[in-house]
Amino acid sequence: MSSVNHTDPTVLPTIANRWSPYRYSDRQVEDSALRTCFEAARWAASSYNDQPWYWIVTRQEAQEFESLVRCLMEANQAWARKSPVLILSILRTSFAHNGQPNRVAAHDLGQATAFLSLQACELGLQVHQMGGINLSAARQSFQLPEGFEPYTAVAMGYPSEAPAESEQDKLLEKRELASRQRRPLSKMVFINAWGQPSKIF
Ligand SMILES: Cc1cc2nc3c(=O)[nH]c(=O)nc-3n(C[C@H](O)[C@H](O)[C@H](O)COP(=O)(O)O)c2cc1C
Repeated sequence: MSSVNHTDPTVLPTIANRWSPYRYSDRQVEDSALRTCFEAARWAASSYNDQPWYWIVTRQEAQEFESLVRCLMEANQAWARKSPVLILSILRTSFAHNGQPNRVAAHDLGQATAFLSLQACELGLQVHQMGGINLSAARQSFQLPEGFEPYTAVAMGYPSEAPAESEQDKLLEKRELASRQRRPLSKMVFINAWGQPSKIF
């Protein structure tokens, strides 16, 4: 199963093939695949090469997995608890070299997560990022030290190939099969001045 998209064929196939599933197969995510995904994330660029990103990885069989599920907003809990791997993404909010606030830490974490997502896709996995998370619950459940903030959660696994059976699954499948939309380039890329379109875009 893959989600419908209308990506321009000139972009990298892995970018075109990435999508955010709501249903995962029972197949375990191999340790080697997990490692490769985080290795990809590790090589993202960051301001001052500060690498302000951290992750706590939990597998479904671990007690901590359920603790992380409980930190998710209810709408996310329903589907994300069936993913084989859940990840808590964490930011260091100050630069390591001088202790000053890092204004772009979230940018860098997002970029590292994008690398992770693409590497996962390349391996046949997919991830689904979640902003719908109770931050204070996550901070408390995972006892994060001062200066470190939970930011998002990420579900990871092999997407389910099986047709949906339960009513809940059918609703999730419908969401997966809905056409993936994006605003046109002309509405987001301007030339020389705010709002100025270009025929390139
Ligand atoms: C930072 C971030 C937060 C997100 N939060 C949620 C969320 O809480 N729940 C959810 O179902 N999807 C969430 N998503 C997934 C987006 O809805 C999804 O990426 C978007 O609809 C585009 O679909 P695609 O990833 O298949 O291209 C989030 C994605 C990102 C990048």
